[in-house]
Amino acid sequence: MSTVITNIAELVTNDPGIGVLRDAALVLDGGKVAWVGDSAQAPPADERFDAAGRAVLPGFVDSHAHLVFAGDRAEEFSARMSGEPYAAGGIRTTVAATRAASDEALEANLRRLVAEMARQGTTTVECKSGYGLDVENEARSLRIAGRVADEVTFLGAHVVPSGDADAYVSLVTGPMLEACAPHARWIDVFCERGAFDGDQTREILTAGVAKGLVPRLHAGQLGPGPGVGLAVEFGAASADHCTFLTGADVDALAGSSTVATLLPGVEFSTRQPYPDARRLIDAGVTVALASDCNPGSCYTSSLPFCIAVAVRDMGMTPREAVWAATAGGAKALRRTDVGHLGVGARADVQVLDAPSQLHLAYRPGVPLTAAVWARGVRQV
Ligand code: NIG
Ligand code: FE
Repeated sequence: MSTVITNIAELVTNDPGIGVLRDAALVLDGGKVAWVGDSAQAPPADERFDAAGRAVLPGFVDSHAHLVFAGDRAEEFSARMSGEPYAAGGIRTTVAATRAASDEALEANLRRLVAEMARQGTTTVECKSGYGLDVENEARSLRIAGRVADEVTFLGAHVVPSGDADAYVSLVTGPMLEACAPHARWIDVFCERGAFDGDQTREILTAGVAKGLVPRLHAGQLGPGPGVGLAVEFGAASADHCTFLTGADVDALAGSSTVATLLPGVEFSTRQPYPDARRLIDAGVTVALASDCNPGSCYTSSLPFCIAVAVRDMGMTPREAVWAATAGGAKALRRTDVGHLGVGARADVQVLDAPSQLHLAYRPGVPLTAAVWARGVRQV
């Protein structure tokens, strides 16, 4: 089934050869972008969608989310808004709820969140484990994630659930990794004071790489630390959060292929300072924006919200922020098939209820998603 989308006022392709087109059309065929060009020249297709002077963008690529969990932590959020600090220990509350939930309940919650994301333009989703924290519950979290998400990440090293940290690192790098590696592409560690230190992170990443997993890291969320340096040293696809960075961290990122994935919803929901996207971009670092959707530090699934905050408070231009939530996310996941609308790309497309991409930041909080296709199939 092919679809032609016509009368596009602004077509953001993120394709360096094509750029932004005016009065454009797009043909989706066989789950891929088959043609891009002038609306007046558009070839026929099985179905026609009239964009009627609105903007069309690639679907958002949400490269960082924690979606296999049960319950919520609304009371913890409420206490934070009254001055309590965010602490990684809250993760254990969600671990208890997740262990007690059935596979069916966890999968239903995950599908609900992915559908919520699609209604806001997201068509590629990365999903981490990290609320099981024992062999059985981490492996089942990854199996469930693999049924729904595009990219699956093993985050057994989210926090030490109880007892001795060294014994837990041995579990993560031994039997847990053995059970989990077949179900994931990526390995992640929460490298932070109160979670895992530099030596533990190095040990866990080394074990994961030996099992064929590719590193990505939670780094510099609550304070400066060794995480960003380790991400670069291990050739990680992405260092995520990057809220607290030293000059050496910025230089290391700039001289690497590691993407800095910024998660503005976290700072919004924890009352932390926002990361300085401008400093990173000006230094030549590739920046992605992602939701970090999780029940603790940030329970938003909305990349339009993240774009608006990144523009308002992190020094990004509206176009940089849209690029970071599409092409940037694709780079953070080392994907060349999503995040752009060149011919041959996956047919992941969103129509905005607005004439240009600028409106995503210009009209915060307004539901602008008019239509969405994923792999050429209409979702919204
Ligand atoms: O990315 N920081 C570590 N993990 C999540 C928070 C998880 C939670 O609080 O439940 C994050 O912010
Ligand atoms: Fe996270």
